[in-house]
Amino acid sequence: MAKEPVRVLVTGAAGQIGYALVPMIARGVMLGPDQPVILHMLDIPPAAESLNGVKMELVDAAFPLLKGVVATTDVVEACTGVNIAIMVGGFPRKEGMERKDVMSKNVSIYKSQASALEKHAAANCKVLVVANPANTNALILKEFAPSIPEKNITCLTRLDHNRALGQISERLNVQVSDVKNVIIWGNHSSTQYPDVNHATVKTQGGEKPVKELVSDDEWLKGEFITTVQQRGAAIIKARKLSSALSAASAACDHIRDWVLGTPAGTWVSMGVYSDGSYNVPVGLIYSFPVTCCNGEWTIVQGLQIDEFSRRKLDATAAELSEEKALAYSCLS
Ligand code: NAD
Ligand code: LMR
Repeated sequence: MAKEPVRVLVTGAAGQIGYALVPMIARGVMLGPDQPVILHMLDIPPAAESLNGVKMELVDAAFPLLKGVVATTDVVEACTGVNIAIMVGGFPRKEGMERKDVMSKNVSIYKSQASALEKHAAANCKVLVVANPANTNALILKEFAPSIPEKNITCLTRLDHNRALGQISERLNVQVSDVKNVIIWGNHSSTQYPDVNHATVKTQGGEKPVKELVSDDEWLKGEFITTVQQRGAAIIKARKLSSALSAASAACDHIRDWVLGTPAGTWVSMGVYSDGSYNVPVGLIYSFPVTCCNGEWTIVQGLQIDEFSRRKLDATAAELSEEKALAYSCLS
C-alpha cells in the first residue's frame, strides 16, 4: 500500500541551498524512494517571484514522489501540518554589520518562526536548523517552541562531519564510504572540533583505526582540523557564495539517518540539546556523535576524551555560551 505523503517545510527556499535541496527531497534522497512528499516552501516577500519560479521548476521536473507544493510568504500557511521543518532562511551578515546586529535579526526570525511551528506544525515535527548561527538559532527556536519536544530540535553539523570524512578519504586514498565514525564536537563554526580518535577505515581484513593508518599525528592535530574548520570559508572564497550542494546533501543525510536510522556500528554528528554528556554544559545546542533508531537520536556514550580533545571540546562550548548570552541580550 502506498505511504501517506510527509509534509516537509523548507524555509529560505528561494535561496541557494533551497534551490539545491528541494529537488533532492522531491526525488526521495531525504526520506527514501518509496516515501511521497508534499513540499512547503517559505521565503520573504522580496523573494516571492523567485520562489514561484522554483515551484514552476518543481512542476516541470514531474517528480513521481512529489504530491504537492505550497509556495508562500505566509509563515502560518508554510508551517501548517508539517512533519519535518528544514530551517534554511535567515538574515546574512552584510558589510559593516556587527555580530550583534546579525544575531538580533536572526533571533527575531527564529523567535517568530518557532511560535508558528509550535502552533501549526504536526505533532512530533522534527526540526533541522541550517541557517547560521545554526546552533544558536536552534536554541532560540527551542526556547520559543516549548511544546515541541527538545529532542526534536537539531542543527546541521553533518556537513562538517562529511567534510572530515572527505579529508580522511583523500589523505589515505580510500573510498569515502569506507571511512566512518569521525566526530564533530560543538559549534558549526571555526571553533568546532573535528575528532578522528575513534574513526576507522574499512580494510580487506576488517577495520583499522584512522590514527594507525595516518601515522602523521601532526597533520591530524593540525592541518586536518583547520581544513575542516575553515572549509566553509574556503568554499566562499572559491565560489564567492557559500556552500550549497554539499549543505543540501548533508541536510538530506541528517534527516534520512534521524528518520530511517544509522547503520549498525556507525555514528554521525548532529547538533542536539546537551544533556551534560562529556561535561558539555546543559542548555547549549552542541554537536555530538549520535546513533539513530526508530526516529530518535541517542548520544554515543563512553568515548575516551584525552587532554587535547578536552581543551577543544571546552573551547567550542565556551564560544556557544558566549553566542547564547549574545542571543539572549538581543531578546531584552
Ligand atoms: P541565501 O541567501 O541564498 O538564501 C537564504 C534565503 O532565506 C533567501 O531566499 C532569503 O530571502 C530567505 N530568507 C531571509 N529571511 C527569511 C525569513 N525570515 N523567512 C524565510 N526566508 C527568509 O543563503 P544560502 O546560501 O541558501 O544559505 C542559507 C543559510 O544557511 C545561511 O545562513 C548560511 O550561512 C547557512 N549555511 C549553513 C550551513 C551549515 O552547515 N549549517 C552550511 C551552508 C550555509
Ligand atoms: C559552511 O560551513 O559552508 C557555511 O556555514 C559557511 C557560511 O558562513 O555560510
